[in-house]
Amino acid sequence: MVLFTGKGGVGKTTLAAATAAHLARSGRKALVVSTDPAHSLADALEAELGGEPLEVDGVGGLYAAHVDSRALLDGAWGRLREHLATILAGAGVDELVADELTVLPGVEELLALAAVQRTTQAGPWDVVVVDCAPTAETLRLLALPEALGGYLERLFPAHRRAVRGLLGSLAPERTGDAARRWDRTAEALDGLVDELTGLRALLASPCSGVRLVLTPERVVAAETRRSLTALALLGLHVDGLLANRVVPAPAAGETGPAARWLRDRAAEQTAVLDEVARLGLPMRTVEHTAAEPTGVDALLALGAQVWRDDDPAAWSPAAAPLPALRRTGGGGRSADSEFELVLRLPGAATTTLDVARIGDELAVTAAGVRRLVALPAVLRRCTVTGARLDGDDLRVAFRPDPAQWLR
Ligand SMILES: Nc1ncnc2c1ncn2[C@@H]1O[C@H](COP(=O)(O)OP(=O)(O)OP(=O)(O)O)[C@@H](O)[C@H]1O
Ligand SMILES: [Mg+2]
Repeated sequence: MVLFTGKGGVGKTTLAAATAAHLARSGRKALVVSTDPAHSLADALEAELGGEPLEVDGVGGLYAAHVDSRALLDGAWGRLREHLATILAGAGVDELVADELTVLPGVEELLALAAVQRTTQAGPWDVVVVDCAPTAETLRLLALPEALGGYLERLFPAHRRAVRGLLGSLAPERTGDAARRWDRTAEALDGLVDELTGLRALLASPCSGVRLVLTPERVVAAETRRSLTALALLGLHVDGLLANRVVPAPAAGETGPAARWLRDRAAEQTAVLDEVARLGLPMRTVEHTAAEPTGVDALLALGAQVWRDDDPAAWSPAAAPLPALRRTGGGGRSADSEFELVLRLPGAATTTLDVARIGDELAVTAAGVRRLVALPAVLRRCTVTGARLDGDDLRVAFRPDPAQWLR
């Protein structure tokens, strides 16, 4: 699964469609699916699209769909919302207010991705290309499976649900309507948490990769840097950048005002691209075409220009951004040793970074995204002695706490 994201309007939809068309032409069964409610994928392909994958004319093996947002509320989240609203209403909360209280911002986008996951698993696809929402929403959405899963677990710990069931079997006369409603809510909740966990696993798995699309402008480059940090924090592989709408340099000797404008524009774009290249990720540039690249033929031409003979699906993932545990001192006896937890956060030097230990977890906030990293067993009995940023690596130092170690 290849996800295309980036700032609004940079060319995510166009490049997702062009990449899928290119893959289809190289003999792969490719599906391009958009989670964007604006449905601009249909405009890019100049085709009618629906919630189910349809074959696109013009190149064999290219299928496209956009997520049907109305169908999304039928799943686990729809059931959970219903149960929660009933419980709130039962507790005396006004029905309309109860309904409002169960709205969770961003969850629709998350459900869209969950729907993409179902289509991905159901279909015969070699590659699924996902045209995501602009970065800010996508990031919030990608943070959700983990954040929501953990949050819901805290609200309704699994053991409390088990006790609830036990009480019900021991004293059935004490379990009225309310208790049954809680049980049904717990079931719906389990369904949702399962769905989210599966989604996260797919997104963070080595067979998924994120392509960040940008245009060579300072404002866009700054957002790209922040997105990179945030995506790494979420454990997603960003395996490359696509710099779109790069203008050609004018022919030497041309001096008219149009040539001057083009030369200035090209020089400025080059300066920004040089800066972006320092992020150290594979980057491809995409020419600003004179005609708007819509329709399968134009997209195929664009895809061929970007990918040439390379396989867009094989763009190798960067080093896994998972936390790594290192022993930094001590040696023989573990109670003496010191440990370091290393989190790779590209671009973190230019954002505000916040690290805090909360019980058995490390809360890391960067580029506006917060992630709870569960500490490995050995670190739970340690105290944090410091944290520093070393290049792209956040290094958090731990020392065993003798009091806890002997317990
Ligand atoms: N390389 C290019 N050359 C010329 N025009 C382009 C190029 N790439 C994209 N465009 C045009 O730029 C506009 C925006 O592109 P597109 O819709 O793909 O962006 P997007 O990132 O998906 O936007 P949104 O954030 O609104 O979803 C479209 O009109 C598209 O045809
Ligand atoms: Mg788009």
